[in-house]
Amino acid sequence: MSLLIRNGEIVTADSRYRGDIYVEDETITRIGVHLDAGPETEVIDATGKYVFPGFIDPHVHIYLPFMATCAKDTQQTASIAALVGGTTTWIEMCCPSRLDDALAGYQLWKSKAEGNSACDYSFHMSVTKFDDRTEGQLREIIADGIASFKIFLAYKNFFGVDDDEMYRTMSLARKHGIIVTAHCENAELVARLQQELIAQGKTGPEWHEPSRPESVEAQGTHRFATFLATTGAAGYVVHLSCEPALRMAIRAKERGTKLWIESVIPHFILDKTYAERPGVEGMKHVMSPPLRDKRNHKVLWDALAAGLIDTVGTDHCPFDTSQKLLGKDAFTQIPNGIPGVEERVNLLYTNGVRRGFLDIHRFVDAASTKPAKLFGLFPRKGTIAVGSDADLVIYDPDYRGVISAKTQHVNNDYNGFEGMEIEGRPSVVTVRGKVQVRDGAFVGDTRHGRFLRREATHFQ
Ligand code: URP
Ligand code: ZN
Ligand code: ZN
Repeated sequence: MSLLIRNGEIVTADSRYRGDIYVEDETITRIGVHLDAGPETEVIDATGKYVFPGFIDPHVHIYLPFMATCAKDTQQTASIAALVGGTTTWIEMCCPSRLDDALAGYQLWKSKAEGNSACDYSFHMSVTKFDDRTEGQLREIIADGIASFKIFLAYKNFFGVDDDEMYRTMSLARKHGIIVTAHCENAELVARLQQELIAQGKTGPEWHEPSRPESVEAQGTHRFATFLATTGAAGYVVHLSCEPALRMAIRAKERGTKLWIESVIPHFILDKTYAERPGVEGMKHVMSPPLRDKRNHKVLWDALAAGLIDTVGTDHCPFDTSQKLLGKDAFTQIPNGIPGVEERVNLLYTNGVRRGFLDIHRFVDAASTKPAKLFGLFPRKGTIAVGSDADLVIYDPDYRGVISAKTQHVNNDYNGFEGMEIEGRPSVVTVRGKVQVRDGAFVGDTRHGRFLRREATHFQ
């Protein structure tokens, strides 16, 4: 089957021009002007629309047993939501706990996705302990096509690693050209502050942020960067939320540490007053690192525009109202997470590109090209070029809409961005040449998504 996308404004991380894109089977085979359609070719008119490379979300949680419950989405529900929102590939955090076997965990996560995803996918492999079996298991997982690890400096006794485990993970990663992604908060300090606040009767969701202050994230970021510099491994801070942590990361970059920075869409759009709303409304906005003081928004947008923040993900992690209420008596029991896989691209376009905070090429770079480059998917993904996978987003900049739980595809009973206006949305979305979204609606195949084997690229 072939496809001709005519007369769109093709925008990549470094180019912008009007043209036609010809797709044969799964691949872009020609780019030009006035291309001819063959007899069996479907023609899509993209006049007045942008054509972007399929967006890549470098940080999602789909299957996640966590905080005495399990995140709500299935691969099917979340991948439909992702595609409607323009995301054609995601990298899911594979997160067995410290009590689980790493290899069995990897196989479990993979089996959940196999044949159940509408978008393409890979995994960051979490290393949540490092014992005698870990090195051999991680080598097997690398050989299966995994090119990134994940470590948690937070979540003591569940996902969190100690210094020795972090050192051994990074040493192994360096040897194999693997990039280590990290959740950077000091677990000890969080545990102490949580205990103190609860003992003082401060139990509501508004105390989640004070239990994990900016300084605690800054310390975690500095600690991660110090270990990277010492081991020579490449690293990536996930969901960086605030100025002090950003300063730590930038200083490390300036010293020559191989470090990249991700922030996630809730931290650009929402602030801690959302978590201070009474009762369950506040609980819906509990994630870690927490939503911060609003003054951080400008800092994050400026750093993103300047390329100091490299990527924008979501940390998509849905828990419904009844799950959030597990923490009604103590904020420490509120399952952490805010979904966003459906909204990321539209919110970034609306609040960044449309409002003049973000150049359109940086937008494409941060939400597609840079994740592809950092995680071993480029140029197969992350660009529009002959030979690349035909993952394309025909984006309608004239669309106007309002985010609502009533119309979302994510398996949840609320939306953390409820009522926010969007100015633009994906009209047509293809994954490897197959039209999965048409007129903004999912029309595709929920089994079309494929596991992406990735090559390690972070040697020296
Ligand atoms: O609150 C969050 N971020 N939940 C998901 C787990 C994690 O830390 O990424
Ligand atoms: Zn995290
Ligand atoms: Zn996460």
